[in-house]
Amino acid sequence: MKLLDALEWRYAVKKMNGSKIPADKLNTIIEATRLAPSAFGLTPYSIIVIEDEETRKKLQPAFYNQSQIVDGSAVIVFAAWNNVSEKEVAEYMQDIAEQRGVPVESLNEFAGYINGSLKNLTADQAKIWADKQTYIALGFGLVAAAAEQIDATPMEGFVPASVDEVLGLSALGLHSVVALTLGYRDAANDYLVNAKKVRRAHHKLVIKK
Ligand SMILES: Cc1cc2nc3c(=O)[nH]c(=O)nc-3n(C[C@H](O)[C@H](O)[C@H](O)COP(=O)(O)O)c2cc1C
Repeated sequence: MKLLDALEWRYAVKKMNGSKIPADKLNTIIEATRLAPSAFGLTPYSIIVIEDEETRKKLQPAFYNQSQIVDGSAVIVFAAWNNVSEKEVAEYMQDIAEQRGVPVESLNEFAGYINGSLKNLTADQAKIWADKQTYIALGFGLVAAAAEQIDATPMEGFVPASVDEVLGLSALGLHSVVALTLGYRDAANDYLVNAKKVRRAHHKLVIKK
């Protein structure tokens, strides 16, 4: 399926049918989120993948009982770092050194630049900055799911503190930001299955200068 056809095909499914998605498709979608860009390339978040039924049942109330949490096949929670410090930047430099085969000292200037930029942020600004990065990964996951013909629902409709508690995110230095439920649409019972996609008209959305 061509990219735009896949994006027309997808919609935010309200009712899923309980079928499992194949492991290779789930892995492709996760890998697409891993390939998402982030500011400086720092990737200040983790991606929590929940297939376990019991855990999804525990999560459902935190998602205002949205049915996709249990009727889907997997829930992915994008959880941003609570703190971004020089330690994480140093780890990132180590990754670059290893993956590009360059001496870590050659990256000192880059590390200094990132640390300097992050130091200018208040704690609130740093949180917003980290949170924003997760939405890029969410977008990549949505497009990958459509390309794989896997249904998906992006979700912000949850109580972050409750999700953090169920998943033990505080202990990991993380907080939940946004989620993606994956599965298969229940075509007989989803009221949106045949709904026309509504988007702002091209001429209203796109401003050419
Ligand atoms: C960040 C974000 C949060 C959303 N949260 C929810 C949600 O909690 N539950 C839900 O059913 N849909 C949720 N949606 C789906 C949107 O309502 C949907 O994407 C939008 O109406 C456009 O429709 P479409 O995706 O079906 O084309 C969310 C979408 C985004 C991008």
